[in-house]
Amino acid sequence: MGIEIIGIGSYLPEKILTNADLEKLVETSDEWITTRTGIKERRIASEIEATSDLAIKAAEKAISKAKISPDEIDAIIVATVTPDMFFPSTSCLVQKGLKAKNAAAFDISAACSGFIYALSIAKDSIKSGTFKTVLVIGSETMSRVTDWQDRNTCVLLGDAAGAVILRKTDSPSDILSSYLGADGNYSDLLYMPGGGSREPATYKTIDERKHFLKMEGNKLFKIAVKAMADSAQKAIALAGLTCNDINLFIPHQANIRIIEAVAKHLDISMEKVFLNIHKYGNTSSATTPVALEEAIIEGKVKKGDIVVLVAFGGGLTWGSVVIKL
Ligand SMILES: CC(C)(COP(=O)(O)OP(=O)(O)OC[C@H]1O[C@@H](n2cnc3c(N)ncnc32)[C@H](O)[C@@H]1OP(=O)(O)O)[C@@H](O)C(=O)NCCC(=O)NCCS
Repeated sequence: MGIEIIGIGSYLPEKILTNADLEKLVETSDEWITTRTGIKERRIASEIEATSDLAIKAAEKAISKAKISPDEIDAIIVATVTPDMFFPSTSCLVQKGLKAKNAAAFDISAACSGFIYALSIAKDSIKSGTFKTVLVIGSETMSRVTDWQDRNTCVLLGDAAGAVILRKTDSPSDILSSYLGADGNYSDLLYMPGGGSREPATYKTIDERKHFLKMEGNKLFKIAVKAMADSAQKAIALAGLTCNDINLFIPHQANIRIIEAVAKHLDISMEKVFLNIHKYGNTSSATTPVALEEAIIEGKVKKGDIVVLVAFGGGLTWGSVVIKL
């Protein structure tokens, strides 16, 4: 028995925010952003779009590609740190939007690693026989938690959603392995302090800008490189493979320099690494499914190829999944 990706879809909001636009908002330059991060532009959700709206659009594309009815979906897992609201879960709002009336629905909170966590859970739930058809979505409106006065973070983030549908199959396709990790000791390197049970929203928390993402980029950089390289190696070994067997690496797109350092650590050529950071920046949990769809559309991978998805994010969390397409 294997697991096949029977449909994949993404949604990128129309509005493009360029580095030149950001030069008008904060003290920065296209040259600084491009050389330090690799990002040229990012997408921003419209005022009427929330995370579930992006997720539904990506999921509708995946359902159409899979040629299934929403009734056939047994479970919907949405990875997000920018839910429409605390509760109900964004996945329940997606279930309603898709009219997927037979699906169980729950959210995963693992920041930028969320999609990898969700994919791993979906794989195990299909292998154990709990579900047969699972819709896994990474959807984020990072622009809603971005401090547009903070040049350290506002140049990095963007909005997007990506969705895949997994189904039990007799074909050789499979999710060969996954490896997940976390270290809560570094929880204060990337977080949003306000709005939760520790600091509920008050005029004071708003004045102190606590409802925006805070990040210590420099410290994260070093941990990200080691955690991503390490988790990719562990997932590849669990699949009984080596780096030489991998046709394409799809890393989380937070910083081009992090990606290059991970590739160097793994001793893989950048030709085998998929990049779209220049177009979208860091879209948190949406990054890897959006990149996987683009890699397939652009012909960078074909049926039978081995692909590794690698992510790292707040928590801290990290993880990798090895897929045979
Ligand atoms: C955020 C990041 C791009 C910053 O790059 P960096 O090379 O580490 O830069 P530093 O933080 O050391 O800052 C260098 C200088 O640039 C300045 N700077 C920061 N943002 C800037 C911007 N947008 N424009 C211009 N200057 C900027 C800093 O203020 C600092 O100035 P100083 O030396 O006068 O204090 C980088 O650290 C990074 O990508 N980190 C990891 C991010 C990540 O993985 N996030 C979460 C994973 S999901």
